[in-house]
Amino acid sequence: MQAMSKSKRHIVLGITGGIAAYKTPDLVRKLIGSDFEVTVVLTEAAEKFVTATTLAAVSGRSVRNDLWDPDAEQHMGHIELARWADLLLIAPASAHTIGLMANGLCPNLLTTIYSATTVPAAIAPAMNQQMWFNSATQRNVEQLKTDGVLCWGPAEGDQACGEVGPGRMLEPEQIVSEVLKLCDESNEHKPLTGINVLISAGPTREAIDPVRFISNASSGRQGFALAQGAHSLGANVTLISGPVELETPEGVSRVNVITAEEMKRNVLIHAASNDVFFSVAAVADYRPASVAEQKIKKTQKFSSTLANLKLELIENDDILLCVSEAFPQLVKVGFAAETNDVLAHARAKRIRKNLDYIVVNDVSNPTIGFNGLDNECTLIHAEGEKKLNKASKEEIARQILLEIAPSIRQRTRK
Ligand code: PMT
Repeated sequence: MQAMSKSKRHIVLGITGGIAAYKTPDLVRKLIGSDFEVTVVLTEAAEKFVTATTLAAVSGRSVRNDLWDPDAEQHMGHIELARWADLLLIAPASAHTIGLMANGLCPNLLTTIYSATTVPAAIAPAMNQQMWFNSATQRNVEQLKTDGVLCWGPAEGDQACGEVGPGRMLEPEQIVSEVLKLCDESNEHKPLTGINVLISAGPTREAIDPVRFISNASSGRQGFALAQGAHSLGANVTLISGPVELETPEGVSRVNVITAEEMKRNVLIHAASNDVFFSVAAVADYRPASVAEQKIKKTQKFSSTLANLKLELIENDDILLCVSEAFPQLVKVGFAAETNDVLAHARAKRIRKNLDYIVVNDVSNPTIGFNGLDNECTLIHAEGEKKLNKASKEEIARQILLEIAPSIRQRTRK
């Protein structure tokens, strides 16, 4: 498995108001020296301590300081930055900013980015030691830790105000070492860190009348196993699920849908902000041309005109094909449920739908595929094929994810 290259990692460095801000040009230089790209975001108070000109010069990128910057915000700049980042680092983090973050308040660009990002966030607190001990500050720091924010420091020692105690920002080299440690952990255990993964799972239901529908036996297990697996490998996962009886895997963001139309709409909305799409859902290929407003009565069967009830079906859009056409840059992984000439059909499907990978399962085998706990697949891509022997759907998901993680990283350049 290819290790994650830190040379391609992006850091949004948020600088807040505090005397330690004078150390941030050095911090930026050291981060760049360790092969990170750094975009600096300043709060209004930070600008009392350090200038945007200096930080733009050392980072080589424009510095952002205004949520209301019309040029940047025309392109939704705060969202773009939230997505660009692999790490949001706030150093120094003032008591004020920590309080805003802990309480979900977004009065400025930095706190807005924090609330809009799903990537790891770290704070390097810096403040007067009494402010650090203040019970509200401690509560807020605990809240951020509970929310998954990493807290680096503060260090103890002489303070600019003349007092001695905890509240000094860690030195730039200590902060860089924490960042590198975080990268190494990601490299070793979480090859999908920073990757945004979209997964569709489960069946769709196409209504015939208010109580009947066309559907299939997909339980959602294979898609949910991929969602759980991708999350545990570090990905930010969005799961678009048809109607299934499964709990949402921890840390996964889930959107419930019923019909193929709803699934298509939601997949296309989310595809724009994702790097990879796993299309595991068993989408109904057809839906009734019209939905009866009332329950269709059995008695109609006995009328002369309706001896047999005939349903006219119209074809649903192929969601995966729509995604392929609209988002060529996305890594696309299709699934194929086949019952005959399994490999030949799957190879053709991969090419027809312009997919990077297709995972084919032979669903004529009742012990795998639809609704069971296990699966057995072949992973097909342009350069070759790999058989994944019968195993639990979780294990199959893990093998698929580990197999393709390196090329996802390469394609997404994250
Ligand atoms: O949910 P489980 O019980 O765990 O079962 C798992 C599974 C058998 C459903 C899964 O492993 C699987 O094979 N999913 C794909 C099912 C399917 O619809 O295959 P297909 O060969 O008909 O479709 C090929 C691809 O096109 C799939 O990625 C599918 O999501 C996509 N598709 C199909 C039709 C359509 N209208 N839109 C689509 O996007």
